[in-house]
Amino acid sequence: MASVVSVTRKRQEPAVRLKRLPTLTAPLLRLNGLCPYYTMFPLSFPFDALANSKVDEWVLDPFCGRGTTILAARLRGLPSVGVDSNPVAGAIAAAKLPQVRACEIIALARDILADVRPGPVPATPQGEFWDLAYAPSTLRDICRIRNYLLSQCSTRVEVALRGVMLGILHGPQTQKTPTYLSNQMPRTYSTKPVSAVGYWTKHQMKPPEIDVLAAISRRARFSFKAVPPTTLGKLITGDSRKCNFAQLGAKFSWVITSPPYYGMRTYFPDHWLRNWFVGGPSDVDYRADEQLSHHSEAEFVADLGGVWKKVAEACVPGAKLVCRFGALPSCQKDPRDLFRRSLADADCRWRITTIKDGGTSQHGRRQCDQFGTGKNKPVEEIDVYAILE
Ligand SMILES: C[S@@+](CC[C@H](N)C(=O)[O-])C[C@H]1O[C@@H](n2cnc3c(N)ncnc32)[C@H](O)[C@@H]1O
Repeated sequence: MASVVSVTRKRQEPAVRLKRLPTLTAPLLRLNGLCPYYTMFPLSFPFDALANSKVDEWVLDPFCGRGTTILAARLRGLPSVGVDSNPVAGAIAAAKLPQVRACEIIALARDILADVRPGPVPATPQGEFWDLAYAPSTLRDICRIRNYLLSQCSTRVEVALRGVMLGILHGPQTQKTPTYLSNQMPRTYSTKPVSAVGYWTKHQMKPPEIDVLAAISRRARFSFKAVPPTTLGKLITGDSRKCNFAQLGAKFSWVITSPPYYGMRTYFPDHWLRNWFVGGPSDVDYRADEQLSHHSEAEFVADLGGVWKKVAEACVPGAKLVCRFGALPSCQKDPRDLFRRSLADADCRWRITTIKDGGTSQHGRRQCDQFGTGKNKPVEEIDVYAILE
């Protein structure tokens, strides 16, 4: 396992449990939007699934992405563990755990940028992409903070600052006060260097000079304005196929998750710039070895089944599995069939109670939205409910 972040709450503190989700604009929910992530599910999905949870029941998400389930558990006052093999996902999800005030995040950033904490001035990455993506002073400040966080990122404030930086690293430029540090880019995924350079050159776009501390301050004040009370939590950056869930020191009553949809193998390359910030190379990382295998349907089903089996070993009898699942349109596979086979393959005690249609990308805001624009017919998402016998 690459890294573990834990947050503890004193046992005697009562867990605070929200009964209903406030409106999505409420300050309490802003933490959820700290940083976008490809194929995340809405907060209401895990939050509603946990409506009948009991105090102190543990929640597990073995494919936690940006930590939506972790935050839903926190809002319900429940302890949770999240696992994801993508370090970008792990870093965003970890920032959903700690109790931090915006002023603490800003103070740490100010210290790092003022060089109060000694350390060598880091080298900045070189090349056409980097020249056009960030103004020199902006890139220098990004690298200072990156360098600091790569050398130490274990306190709640450091973990939160890393989440803030990932959230503002790239995104669209606006006429108003800038939110993002980069030249024009999407916020949900990192454009590949060749396409980005081509676009900036064609449109004669120069990188904006951004005051990094001011941008951090704005985002920290927005996202950490009112964080929910902390619950026990652990975030593991690692491969769920190899994780020994039974040794995590908790017995889980809820598994709420969304594995990669069949055919979706680009989590690392689609987040390559954020991946660089958390220690990856300064170019696109096409690695997929820690992701579920998409080489063949059989391998995928076997990998997923292996995770269900290990997860079952760490759950109490009667535990509930709630899973949103689908397949990429280019694969045209039936997600129901893949999911049923993964459970059968695992030969474990999960019994499916309900499978609901989740709609396609053409029906409202779905997780598969971003896959529905090609020439292939969009594939339906499903919501699966199972119980451990
Ligand atoms: C559909 S996304 C989960 C999104 C999440 N529900 C959210 O709201 O952000 C699936 C996640 O599974 C992760 N993943 C793929 N293979 C994995 C593995 N072997 N172990 C752990 N995580 C894995 C991917 O990195 C990705 O973040």
